[in-house]
Amino acid sequence: MTPDHPSCSGCGHLDRRQFLASASVLSLGALVAGCGDGVISGPEQLPDGIPQPFRIDPATIPELAPVGGRTVVVSGASSPVLVERVGSQQFRALSLVCPHRGSIVNVAADGLRCPNHDARFANNGTWLSGQPTADLTPLDVRRNADGSLLVGGALTPAVLGLDRNAIVFLTTPTGNAPAAQTVAITNGGGGILGNLAVSLAYGANQRTGWLAIALSDSAAPATLTLTALRGTLPVGNYTATVTVGVGSGAQTIAVSLLIQDPTTPASLQLSTAALTFAAPVGTVPAAQTVQCNNAGGGTLTGLSVAIAYGATGTNWLSASFNQVTAPATLTVRPAVGALAVGTYTAIITVLAAGVASRTVAVTLTVSPAGLVVTLSAWPALANVGGVAGSVGNVNGGPVAITRLSATSFGAFSMRCPHAGTTITVVSGTSFRCPNHGALFNSAGVWQSSPQRAENLTPLTVIYTPGATTLSVV
Ligand code: FES
Repeated sequence: MTPDHPSCSGCGHLDRRQFLASASVLSLGALVAGCGDGVISGPEQLPDGIPQPFRIDPATIPELAPVGGRTVVVSGASSPVLVERVGSQQFRALSLVCPHRGSIVNVAADGLRCPNHDARFANNGTWLSGQPTADLTPLDVRRNADGSLLVGGALTPAVLGLDRNAIVFLTTPTGNAPAAQTVAITNGGGGILGNLAVSLAYGANQRTGWLAIALSDSAAPATLTLTALRGTLPVGNYTATVTVGVGSGAQTIAVSLLIQDPTTPASLQLSTAALTFAAPVGTVPAAQTVQCNNAGGGTLTGLSVAIAYGATGTNWLSASFNQVTAPATLTVRPAVGALAVGTYTAIITVLAAGVASRTVAVTLTVSPAGLVVTLSAWPALANVGGVAGSVGNVNGGPVAITRLSATSFGAFSMRCPHAGTTITVVSGTSFRCPNHGALFNSAGVWQSSPQRAENLTPLTVIYTPGATTLSVV
């Protein structure tokens, strides 16, 4: 951290314009050393507190090397953003625009303080004391594959991601112990995915204690390592379920330890006998997988599929293996395309050389499309954090769309949750209610107003990355 900053002697009187004119990337040290507590006259209009996403590389910013290290970044003409490393691979970002009247908040070792009317905030942006106002606006932080960060845009929820949902350990009573396998845990959303919880449950009425799990970090990105401890277990198929996360966002990993008798015949086993898909007209639901194992001995190979469709439609399903020898993964993907609203069924028969086949029953429900929005008609949606208002009606009320990331959108009812007035879009990036002045960020989160208001009511958006339209239902 830079201990002092010689050019910062007048920093206590920096207004936002001066700040922007003088800064590109400033260390926290510069601000701590130079910014005083003097009261200045700040802007009366709330400036844009949600800058467009910009890229920084923490490996090139020494202040961000240690956990707890902070720096202030100004990208182009955007408002200043405080970026902090809060874990070995996790970062947090806050807009330094005061939610009261838009002055730029000073960064100090013991917290954050607005020089205008003395609102004080904790290091995580929570309002603490002084001029009553909202918390500082949290911003999205996403980690790129090369370790750099994409900072900016409205904070979107963290989304748990696993690179695999099924693991098979294959061995014999006297063969080599199976090698450990790993699952990559990622955050596919914004913010921080922390407090990772992992639990283990063995199959009903089965032997226990044969699986060891280890988590590399308590926050994503992390690696889960699974080790099968065969020991003296007899021939059999032992199963367990590893659950990552809690609540509705949790995901499971189906684990099998197959100890085969090499002298017994091969036998085909599927992880499920039924798959269910649902999607509005014109959209494509996410693919699902079926794990195909050899529950017997020897080698099970020659895997293939045959699809038989029900009476309502044909050729709407694809199914393919990653390899022809078990254990293998069958990926099933419906292509809704021009299918009309209705329910469609199919039977996938899984075949392999010299063994009895198995089947998977597939059901696809196609629902009405809802409001279809053509993205090119709304230029504000070209950028992450952009907002388009009054794009159409759902449930009799006007709808706003916001771009949450390169591949996801949110939608909100434009009825103010305070008294039902129709809100308006401000600068293509946020919302204001003309009735009592409630402000909402592009994620629909209430920011400030004389009366406390709820967040905007979210609607469901269905969007296939790369598509030119989205649906709001
Ligand atoms: S602008 Fe009034 S407390 Fe910050």
